[in-house]
Amino acid sequence: MQFSKIIAGVMKWGVWGAGFATTEYDRIIRQSLDAGVSTFDHADIYGDYTTEAEFGAVIGRDPALRLQMQLVTKCGIRMVSPHRPQHNLKSYDTSYHHILTSVDRSLKNLHTDYLDALLIHRPDVLMDADEIARAFDALKASGKVLHFGVSNFTPAQLRLLHSRFPVEIHQVECSIVHLHPFLDGTLDQCQELNILPMAWGPLGSGRFFDPMPDAQTTRIRKCAENLATKYASTPDGILLSWLLQHPAGIAPVIGTSKPERIANAAAMTKLHLEREDWYQLWTASTGTEVP
Ligand SMILES: NC(=O)c1ccc[n+]([C@@H]2O[C@H](COP(=O)([O-])OP(=O)(O)OC[C@H]3O[C@@H](n4cnc5c(N)ncnc54)[C@H](OP(=O)(O)O)[C@@H]3O)[C@@H](O)[C@H]2O)c1
Repeated sequence: MQFSKIIAGVMKWGVWGAGFATTEYDRIIRQSLDAGVSTFDHADIYGDYTTEAEFGAVIGRDPALRLQMQLVTKCGIRMVSPHRPQHNLKSYDTSYHHILTSVDRSLKNLHTDYLDALLIHRPDVLMDADEIARAFDALKASGKVLHFGVSNFTPAQLRLLHSRFPVEIHQVECSIVHLHPFLDGTLDQCQELNILPMAWGPLGSGRFFDPMPDAQTTRIRKCAENLATKYASTPDGILLSWLLQHPAGIAPVIGTSKPERIANAAAMTKLHLEREDWYQLWTASTGTEVP
């Protein structure tokens, strides 16, 4: 698998956030590529089912761009939306038919004939591992999808699917304010099974920049600011390098819509925090000394 170490999440590039026009998508895509951030994280539902197509319009205008990037998308959530009038209730669907239909739509939206990776967006209570494996087998055989993964699964759910089909990626919420994956077996399992962990919400989904920070955020900010001075970096850069340093090889999926922040994040792949500094941040997050 060849994904960039920092991944650009596009969830807030369309109507769920920045509301980019095609020229703005064009600009941020090219600036990301120039900065070495070549992997883009999508989901069929982003922007109420509209963001994939808005992003894809840029590839449609300049197909050569496709060769310089990796596209990740997700499926499995059925959102209630004017774009899906047949959905009456928000629910999950990981059936063979839903997965294949969703991939065909994503390919069309993104103006491409293959996805670098497809993730099951959320664990579906009714999911049948054999059926998902059958869908993944068909997508692999047709060349429509190169790599497969899941998102927000428990280690047990992942292991079940992995027993039927090799899972290669696990995308989970993971940051200095969301430490569960470090402790609940998720990152251990990624190392054990050679799975690439992708961290969504790597900056606490913007929580660090809240003008009214809570006590935990205040502690982390102070610590990150001190370390930013020490390493001639920025506080958000320090928090990304904190994730990048974990031995599981975490790839942060950053959610910014500002090209300069993407370039700054890419530079963090070269920063190495001393072990004690890494634990200083951990301690700032938990509020107590390690046992
Ligand atoms: N698999 C899943 O279930 C799942 C769930 C949620 C998200 N995701 C993926 O993960 C991606 C990232 O998630 P996220 O948005 O929660 O990530 P995040 O990177 O933790 O947060 C992004 C937010 O932080 C703000 N921000 C970043 N740097 C800043 C700075 N220096 N100063 C002030 N504000 C700053 C951004 O605003 P600006 O735009 O102004 O920079 C944006 O609102 C999404 O785009 C999506 O691709 C996946």
